[in-house]
Amino acid sequence: MSDTLCFLQALKERRSYYALSDKSPAEQAEIIQLIKEAVKYAPSAFNCQGTRAVVLFGERHLKVWQIVCETLQARVPADKFAPTAQKIASFSAAYGTVLFWEDWTAVEELQHKFPLYKENFPIWAYQANAMAELAVWSGLETLGLGASLQHYNPLIDEAVRREFGLPASWELIAQMPFGQPTQAPLPKSFSPIEERVKVLG
Ligand SMILES: Cc1cc2nc3c(=O)[nH]c(=O)nc-3n(C[C@H](O)[C@H](O)[C@H](O)COP(=O)(O)O)c2cc1C
Repeated sequence: MSDTLCFLQALKERRSYYALSDKSPAEQAEIIQLIKEAVKYAPSAFNCQGTRAVVLFGERHLKVWQIVCETLQARVPADKFAPTAQKIASFSAAYGTVLFWEDWTAVEELQHKFPLYKENFPIWAYQANAMAELAVWSGLETLGLGASLQHYNPLIDEAVRREFGLPASWELIAQMPFGQPTQAPLPKSFSPIEERVKVLG
């Protein structure tokens, strides 16, 4: 298969997988290498490279979902908590989690250096983070791993930073639980591509 077809296949087959087991068809070393490469080669505005990823396995993966559970339990009425608890348990049942962060020191340095674009750097930081997220998500797919994208930030940021000794300048952007899929993803519909991509000329 050509490189273009491989690339498109990974993009097409990347889906939100919610039913995941704590098994992995790939070695941990392979997963770590993939995530390092995806984060390294994803672009960022002015080559800012402010995206950070924390890869969690085993007890530390479980810990992050315990933090999510405790944080939400303190906010959601007890009689309404069961569906939330069930959802969190499904993420906890996965093999690992990638936490995506942005380091604002990198952004602030650029804001200082290029004041003309001061307002844009935070927006670009989120866009760059999303590019790394897509690269990791699609890359995990190529290793036979399913994943989904979750957003319990900013509620959990403080507790997670404290638990893993991460700098205060890091803002949590997304949480990506991953593992071996145990169910096919939900059917997905597409709006007509002609409405979304205009070819002129
Ligand atoms: C910016 C962004 C935020 C998302 N946030 C969530 C989320 O908080 N929880 C969730 O379950 N899925 C989240 N998703 C996943 C989308 O719901 C999902 O990608 C979309 O429905 C298409 O389905 P697919 O991923 O299977 O292709 C998010 C996706 C994007 C791009």
